[in-house]
Amino acid sequence: MGEIATLRCVTCGVEYDPTRTEYTCPSCGPRRGTLEVLYDYDRLRRTLHPSSFAETGLPSMWRYEALLPIEDRRFIQPLRVGWTPLYAFPELARELRLAALHVKDDGQNPTASYKDRASSIVVIKAQEKRKGVVTCASTGNAASSLAGFAASTALETVIFVPERAPEAKVAQLLVYGARVFLVRGSYDVAYDLAAEAATAFGWYNRSAAVNPYLVEGKKTGALEIAEQLAWNPPHVVLVGVGDGSVVSGLCKGFDELVRLGWLEHAPRVIGVQAEGSAAIARASAAYRGRAVAIEDGEARTVADSICVGKPRDIVKAVTYVARNGGEFVTVSDAEILDAIVTLARRTGVFAEPAGAASFAGLRKLAAAGTLEGKTAAVVVSGNGLKDVASPRAIIGAPIVVEPSLKEIERHL
Ligand SMILES: Cc1ncc(COP(=O)(O)O)c(C=O)c1O
Ligand SMILES: [Zn+2]
Repeated sequence: MGEIATLRCVTCGVEYDPTRTEYTCPSCGPRRGTLEVLYDYDRLRRTLHPSSFAETGLPSMWRYEALLPIEDRRFIQPLRVGWTPLYAFPELARELRLAALHVKDDGQNPTASYKDRASSIVVIKAQEKRKGVVTCASTGNAASSLAGFAASTALETVIFVPERAPEAKVAQLLVYGARVFLVRGSYDVAYDLAAEAATAFGWYNRSAAVNPYLVEGKKTGALEIAEQLAWNPPHVVLVGVGDGSVVSGLCKGFDELVRLGWLEHAPRVIGVQAEGSAAIARASAAYRGRAVAIEDGEARTVADSICVGKPRDIVKAVTYVARNGGEFVTVSDAEILDAIVTLARRTGVFAEPAGAASFAGLRKLAAAGTLEGKTAAVVVSGNGLKDVASPRAIIGAPIVVEPSLKEIERHL
């Protein structure tokens, strides 16, 4: 168990006692005052070594329990979360003029997205805190993941998703037994409603950014990429960005490995946003090392999971990526859809639109020549079966035939 030393505000730096503070810094507010979980790294450096994780024998993110903020391991769910495959595709790497290309398939998590890493932690925290109800606003994946991970516990789940969330994600919620509110409005509107309801009814809030423990789960993808490559991580790691928590988690994970002395440098973390939902990329371009300028707007993209006009983890995302030496890039919806199909046809990994954004960003940077000779990993953060409608427009249709060989021949 990773004993938390403190919770520190990302804006003012004030430290809070984790036994007394649940969500965000009261002085800086819920948007600028997100908290980061810090551990006693000197102690961890003395007690852990790179082989400690393999020695647990656990094929899940729980191999990193020593770096995770839980107190009572009895609450760890039976579902296997994390330790997802990292595949190498040398042929595709050569075509993109990379030295190596790895695909981290997080669509293979229990509810089929990267969000399971965070939900697993929060469901444990909710039980440690003796909560009865957990709630969450979500574009879909965080919610279905919360519902799935709470399913084997006594917790009730109340979910707020935008009315236009893809059908498969809503179906997942209902199957897992969550109480589901389809909110008339965008994800940004659903988010505020969930926060109000959590305060009014005393529910534990798993919505992005306000809950400091989410990023801890989300950092485990970075720990895995490093360990799966024998502590020689790639030059760059790319991931799709909506609220900014996953990209922050990857930065934090690599940063902790550097602090512990197991990596010399962190890989550059590259956040990929959709052109129509790029508030974090804009704030990052304007960032000069002082306050993060926040400009919200309407968001529109085919990648529903990263369709966020008011990103809640913008301060962490911009400051962590700047410290990491990474960057943000934007891609069009057409590039995202094309990335789904190319990735599926060349690797067999089927990504939902937000999950393929990472590969779209990689292709864009590779085409510009900035990654020549480098090693890269793309995180596929959600499974393609979550949203089969989006790629349909560009994949053609099957051929309907009478059951006769002659007719088949006619089509060949
Ligand atoms: C599949 C997928 N990819 C990427 C993201 C982006 O994560 P974040 O909102 O933390 O930036 C999400 C968030 O919902 C997601 O579901
Ligand atoms: Zn503060």
